[in-house]
Amino acid sequence: MTQSKLSGKKIVITAGPTYEKIDPVRFIGNYSSGKMGFALANVCAEQGAEVTLITGPVSQKTTHPNIKRIDVESAEAMYQAALTAFTDADAAILSAAVADFRPASPMDTKIKRESGQELTLHLLPNPDIAAALGCIKKEKQILVGFALETDDEAHHAQDKLKRKNLDFIVLNSLRDKGAGFSHDTNKITIIHKSGESVAYPLKSKQEVAADIVNQLALLLQ
Ligand code: PMT
Repeated sequence: MTQSKLSGKKIVITAGPTYEKIDPVRFIGNYSSGKMGFALANVCAEQGAEVTLITGPVSQKTTHPNIKRIDVESAEAMYQAALTAFTDADAAILSAAVADFRPASPMDTKIKRESGQELTLHLLPNPDIAAALGCIKKEKQILVGFALETDDEAHHAQDKLKRKNLDFIVLNSLRDKGAGFSHDTNKITIIHKSGESVAYPLKSKQEVAADIVNQLALLLQ
């Protein structure tokens, strides 16, 4: 078997949504299924990497022995797990759809509906995991982020690439049929910090993961 560039490398992957608790029966979440992140974990593990997969609540399964799975619910828990795992990692790929805000005062009991009354939720900003890892990133560590956009895609992705100190960003747009949340397929453009970009056609998430991992392997030392 040929030695893969990923063999023995420690790779952290975030996947899925985060749930931000409103009360014991309700949360703020999003449509992420975890398929993209789990496909990335499988491809990295198959190429010999030691994967730490930090995932929000999803129904995906992991079977590969090289994948250490950490289940979390909130952005804060994902943030703490990612900070710890990144310390001695060679790379991180951040594919999770992290909630940017959480309710300021989650209730311990179910909020009751008062007839005709409005309800206002006060939201606080969550930590930005990608930006935090971008701040502490050492020279040899590679940081890969995603950008999920609905408009002015390239502009927003480039802004995130710079602001979060990423090595490259994987842009997917909800305007592309079969791309983004829940589908078994995705359509991506990889934008490097050099400004170079590569656009790929619609492919299965396994194939998309392989394209991303190939780009990562080129940067790993
Ligand atoms: O899970 P699937 O159903 O397969 O769907 C895959 C996907 C659409 C979720 C995935 O391909 C994707 O685009 N993931 C990123 C979604 C997202 O939240 O993008 P963003 O543009 O809001 O965030 C930019 C980057 O910062 C991402 O790497 C994100 O993980 C990261 N981030 C964002 C907010 C935050 N508080 N912390 C973060 O780390």
